[in-house]
Amino acid sequence: MSVDLRGRTCVVTGSAKSIGLGIAEMYLGLGAKVAMIDIDPEVTLQAEALAGGGASVRGYVLDITDQEAVMACFEDIAGKLGDVFALANVAGAVDQQPIDEITPERLDRMNRININGSVWCAQGALRTMRKHKDGRIINFSSKSGKTGSAIMAAYSGAKGAIISVTQAMAFELAKDNIKVNCLCPGIVEKTGVWGAVSKGYVENLKMAEDAVVKQFTAKVPLGRLCRIEDVVAFVKFLTIDGDYCTGQAFNLTGGREMH
Ligand SMILES: NC(=O)c1ccc[n+]([C@@H]2O[C@H](COP(=O)([O-])OP(=O)(O)OC[C@H]3O[C@@H](n4cnc5c(N)ncnc54)[C@H](O)[C@@H]3O)[C@@H](O)[C@H]2O)c1
Repeated sequence: MSVDLRGRTCVVTGSAKSIGLGIAEMYLGLGAKVAMIDIDPEVTLQAEALAGGGASVRGYVLDITDQEAVMACFEDIAGKLGDVFALANVAGAVDQQPIDEITPERLDRMNRININGSVWCAQGALRTMRKHKDGRIINFSSKSGKTGSAIMAAYSGAKGAIISVTQAMAFELAKDNIKVNCLCPGIVEKTGVWGAVSKGYVENLKMAEDAVVKQFTAKVPLGRLCRIEDVVAFVKFLTIDGDYCTGQAFNLTGGREMH
């Protein structure tokens, strides 16, 4: 039976825009109380706009790489919105460079945002989720976490680690009936990550943007790029219906990645 999200608290990181914003809107549509987290202050404006429609939503400006600040934020969320039922760990960042040009700072930045940030937010959510013996954590890996992408070794490594972290958490939290999964999308249209990646390909490969889009679309068996709605629909399934799923890394690649 589907979980009724009405009155339950869901947290979405990286929700100032793109995929995270779409997930926050979906949770609100199902009657959840939603905490929207982002380093971008735009998140508070987005939350205010959604609250204007009568929804129970709060925006938090937070750098998820700061463990102490993350714990304080989740304490505030629990006090104002209630114990957390679902966490969508969407916040992430991409970087592109040839392997010889990776610096300690850039490698570290990829790991701190994509891996550490997801772990700190899970720790924050677990403080209240665990006691209910029920909960969902949805991490964000990537197709690049399954099969690494050229000129994206730092990002691919961080997203690959998310898959192992997801599996470890799934084993560890199964006894608490907390399901932990991750998504591995291919290129998602109209998002910040694809905007940055396509710009990088335009510069590095000296190709026009529409030629880049055409080249990558041609690799997808279903013949189109992923849409934000595709990702949101999968997160909805994992949150309210995926009761027997844990430790999985689901491809959302239109058939481009099959393992
Ligand atoms: N868009 C794609 O094509 C694609 C493909 C595969 C995986 N993903 C993954 O999906 C997730 C969402 O992607 P998107 O394209 O919607 O991203 P996006 O860039 O549009 O949005 C990501 C959000 O995360 C926030 N963020 C970044 N660093 C942060 C920090 N330290 N603390 C708090 N917030 C921070 C940003 O401000 C931004 O609002 C990411 O984890 C990304 O790696 C995206």
